Amino acid sequence: MAGMPDLQTTLAALPSHRREMFEARVERWRPDLEAALALLYDDHTEVADRLVAQAAAAFAVRDEELHHLDLRRLLEPDWFQKPSMVGYAAYADRFAGTLAGVAEHIDHLADLGVCYLHLMPLLQPRPAPNDGGYAVADYTRVREDLGTVDDLRALARTLRGQGISLCIDLVLNHVAREHPWAAAARAGDPRMRDWFWVFPDRKVPDAYERTLPEVFPDFAPGSFSWDEEVRGWVWTTFNDYQWDLNWSNPEVLCAFADIILGHANNGVEVFRLDAIAFTWKRMGTSCQNQPEVHALTQALRAVARIACPAVLFKAEAIVGPADLLAYLGQGEHHGKVSDLAYHNSLMVQIWSMLASKDARLAAHALQQLPPAPTSTAWITYVRCHDDIGWAISDEDAAATGLDGHAHRAFLSDFYAGEFPGSWAEGLVFQENPQTRDRRISGSLASLCGLGKGDPMAVRRILLAHAVILGYGGVPVIWMGDEIALLNDPSWDQQPETAPERTGGRADNRWVHRPRMPWPVPESGSKVLDGVRRLVRARAATPHLHASVQAEVLTPRDNGVFLVARRHPLGTLLGAYNVMPEPRHVPVDLLHDLGLDPAAVVDRISGYPPFVREGAVQLAPYEALWMTS
Ligand code: GLC
Repeated sequence: MAGMPDLQTTLAALPSHRREMFEARVERWRPDLEAALALLYDDHTEVADRLVAQAAAAFAVRDEELHHLDLRRLLEPDWFQKPSMVGYAAYADRFAGTLAGVAEHIDHLADLGVCYLHLMPLLQPRPAPNDGGYAVADYTRVREDLGTVDDLRALARTLRGQGISLCIDLVLNHVAREHPWAAAARAGDPRMRDWFWVFPDRKVPDAYERTLPEVFPDFAPGSFSWDEEVRGWVWTTFNDYQWDLNWSNPEVLCAFADIILGHANNGVEVFRLDAIAFTWKRMGTSCQNQPEVHALTQALRAVARIACPAVLFKAEAIVGPADLLAYLGQGEHHGKVSDLAYHNSLMVQIWSMLASKDARLAAHALQQLPPAPTSTAWITYVRCHDDIGWAISDEDAAATGLDGHAHRAFLSDFYAGEFPGSWAEGLVFQENPQTRDRRISGSLASLCGLGKGDPMAVRRILLAHAVILGYGGVPVIWMGDEIALLNDPSWDQQPETAPERTGGRADNRWVHRPRMPWPVPESGSKVLDGVRRLVRARAATPHLHASVQAEVLTPRDNGVFLVARRHPLGTLLGAYNVMPEPRHVPVDLLHDLGLDPAAVVDRISGYPPFVREGAVQLAPYEALWMTS
């Protein structure tokens, strides 16, 4: 194939120890690669050869320091599962202006105990509107206002020196309409047209749309957009300027393998696989969570393992509970796909518990999830840059006596501040008149009532953090939540969101993407101290290693969410009071779990919990991590 690096020439130029290392990795991971490709393409052996050659070319130019990192990670494969692992996610510009600016604020991250930093889309997007950078026009360049690729390399190295792994977004479901691949398709190159889904008329799009849910029903209805230049209906799941790629074309896979390998060599350690659920299309389905999605991930991961095994994949699949686990590897893909995946279900249940003051639905829904593979970790989070969609199934709701639709409507009303007694100040995002689905935007602090001066707001913020930090996995703190930033009142007057830049379609997710105020304001110190305390307690609690399952227990008191973690060192019982009044955990439960009530200590406070009348007492919104 023209332009393809020749494997033998690349290997021959390597020192012998490197060549042996490479060959050993190919022997170890090529079977995974081939097995995945066989599920996807007819010419799979040829594609495998090509990908191994690409991996060799990247391996050959990988920095000494990164080769060393590969070695360290291979020797310590559970490095990301340790309880000391805590993540932070931010837009680089909103956190610190530029990539160089981020390096100047590492002290804040280090002070918080952060070991993993996800910087939101930082590769060159199309001009606004660009969906917060999720419409990439050039994967090889850094967003101009943030810096250059050299700055990215320098930042990755600085972070690495401080024990912080850099994560970036890999937007792989779509590219910007202005990306050279799409531009070539628009210019009439038939080969490049095949990289996308373009239809001459509505016949096929209509057939697909019969079963396709809408992602942005409000500002981008439908899943196809007519493009005058390409003279066709283009598949655009998200906005009309985000063109879905055709992953059934192996060229697309090979191109993304190169993008991953290139940024891994720039020092990126984690790739967030954006909107991964949508990458494979199948007529008659929702075109989400198709089995081939996992084969694609397995292929890309095998390539990364061969060239740069320090790299992790993080699946961003914001899907229903039943589809979630496959992203961490089930069946034949076990241990071969993403190492990390967003625990969307836990996030939703945290909000549901706070609003309903009841832990039963959360317990039931989370109990239905099969255990995650022990070599992986959930990303646990309370908020991220996106809206909250109420991913609660009708079945789970019914099992706890609720009507799914009514409960989801209640949550929308509650967090939009429309329900009597609500403390929340969220905004409705993407109201869908057909399904009556209403998602919610808003910052953690505003959704917890801080803006309305609710006296329990700080406790709620800390309780939510305690749940994600005590669940196991990799907790990721969303920028600003650690200092209780409220909704940004100027969200619709920002350069990114100003109506004249966005065609009048305001995206209110910007309400919870504020700028970080430096120095950290005094108003945030209470929450900051509390989060810091939780992070420190977590790091000193080996029971929270991600290889140990979070076992959600049926609540003994409906207002207390219970999570047991049976570690070889002993059991940890996490108890979270989701109510604004005192609740309890019966001492019998401690006995049942093998905990000695007389010797139990709460790892968060460092003290024994308060036991009275045969029960551990919890103050309003109190969290306990009990071990004995
Ligand atoms: C992911 C991102 C979201 C974006 C979408 C399309 O879900 O988190 O912000 O709108 O992908 O790229």
